[in-house]
Amino acid sequence: MSNAAEHHATRRDFIYYATAGAGAVITGASVWPLVNQMNPSADVLALASIRVDVSAVDVGTQLTVLWQGKPVFIRRRTEAEIEAGRAVPVDDLVDQFAENANVPEGADASDENRTLDEAGEWMVQMGVCTHLGCVPLGDGAGDFGGWFCPCHGSHYDTAGRIRKGPAPRNLPVPVASFVDETTLQLG
Ligand code: FES
Repeated sequence: MSNAAEHHATRRDFIYYATAGAGAVITGASVWPLVNQMNPSADVLALASIRVDVSAVDVGTQLTVLWQGKPVFIRRRTEAEIEAGRAVPVDDLVDQFAENANVPEGADASDENRTLDEAGEWMVQMGVCTHLGCVPLGDGAGDFGGWFCPCHGSHYDTAGRIRKGPAPRNLPVPVASFVDETTLQLG
């Protein structure tokens, strides 16, 4: 794929959800001074959590949202992606930790410990390469059918685990939960 095509592909599925935070920033004057005295800054607080409608995310597709200034990949995995992820022994992994804020610290990087739901359909992770912070390409990119960071060639598998290349860690899974069947909360 040419650079221009890659750029286009990255931009095409990039949807910004900044309005969720903007509403909180411009709340009444009585709230503002209080928020303003606090640390972290108000704009960080405003985006501490967002809700994302995932009803249009079909199996085999991915939505990218911006949260706390960073892209978050929300992928609804296919059966084949789930199977591929679950077939990998943890011992084969570069980073053997789940890197998932929703499971106990030190939990292993099994596929089950990486996904949001028990069935393993929903994979939610920061879209920031753990090498130098580029945004990896998705939709089955790379040698392991997951994500691929082309700048220095880091390949992530269908569970966002680093498998090849210079990146040292799996893509981090942020605090996330379903508030109802089609609404995902980040943070
Ligand atoms: S930032 Fe991803 S491989 Fe370098």
